[in-house]
Amino acid sequence: MTAFLEIKDLTVTFRVGSAIAARLKGDPVPDLVAVDDITFTVDRGESLGIVGESGCGKSTLARAITGLVPVTSGSISLDGGPLGKRRSKATRRRVQMVFQDPSSSLNPSMTVERTLAELLRVHKIVPRDRIDARCAELMDLVELPKSLLKARPRSLSGGQRQRVGIARALALEPDVLIADEAVAALDVSVQAPVLNLLNQLREELGLTVMFISHDLAVVRYVSDRVIVMYLGNAVEDRSTVDLFESPRHPYTRALMAAAPKFGVKKAPGESAIKGEPPSALDLPSGCRFRPRCPLAEEICEQVEPDLSGASETERTACHFPWEG
Ligand SMILES: Nc1ncnc2c1ncn2[C@@H]1O[C@H](COP(=O)(O)OP(=O)(O)OP(=O)(O)O)[C@@H](O)[C@H]1O
Ligand SMILES: [Mg+2]
Repeated sequence: MTAFLEIKDLTVTFRVGSAIAARLKGDPVPDLVAVDDITFTVDRGESLGIVGESGCGKSTLARAITGLVPVTSGSISLDGGPLGKRRSKATRRRVQMVFQDPSSSLNPSMTVERTLAELLRVHKIVPRDRIDARCAELMDLVELPKSLLKARPRSLSGGQRQRVGIARALALEPDVLIADEAVAALDVSVQAPVLNLLNQLREELGLTVMFISHDLAVVRYVSDRVIVMYLGNAVEDRSTVDLFESPRHPYTRALMAAAPKFGVKKAPGESAIKGEPPSALDLPSGCRFRPRCPLAEEICEQVEPDLSGASETERTACHFPWEG
């Protein structure tokens, strides 16, 4: 059986600094590897969380899948068909993103109705005479009163704006919804209702959801499975229940140990996570978590550990994974 969403050996690099200056000096042209050779699949209807510190490549991964940044190497496919560089309008529709800050992604001069109606019209989602009715249905889906169709983003609360952001993504009837820090900008009190809405929509519409957050608690709340990222790599890929019950990678353990509510006790020799991640432009040899890892030994410096395990969703990239 082919997987629904399949990411294979995906690498995304950015050219940083001046290539000309580097060439003149005889230095290699600097490339920043934001996503480094990541492979995973997502089942139809599954909710996959992606978690990791700032700068580890979560948004770049999301944007590559959505087609917003070019893939350097590797492939993405959906339902057996490639999601390549040049996507038709119909293909582009199938993966939609909800962004962190709805106020910067919504046009301030357009009413909610116009924002939604234009998408429906341009992408020919429904016949013209059904556009108004479909706008109303979208408001129902995201549990906003229809009276807000006439409102502009400025007059909406943060939570309402984010619901409009979700309605806009749903207007295109996607198969995959990628929510990138979708509640990070919201008051804690409105985070849970928006997360509940996303869960509910996934069930009702059979959506496949990728939920990106730096917040472990948020990811645990909405995901069936979690991938932990560190400096462009996936270092742990487990079911949510297993991951939170027995995190194996020292990085995952350190993230959890930093928040007492996860009940992860430090193993002998383990201490809180040290310092900042190294620069993605100057990666350490071997395991890239090594300079911050309390368990690192010689092999960690020499051999980069593979992400492997008993099954595809039971994977850890560590020479000394915690076995409980
Ligand atoms: N357009 C770009 N040009 C150059 N470098 C970039 C670009 N976009 C991202 N990067 C770099 O790629 C790396 C990954 O960034 P990314 O935004 O994907 O991380 P993130 O995990 O989403 O972080 P955050 O939690 O802060 O949102 C970072 O080192 C970042 O500086
Ligand atoms: Mg990001």
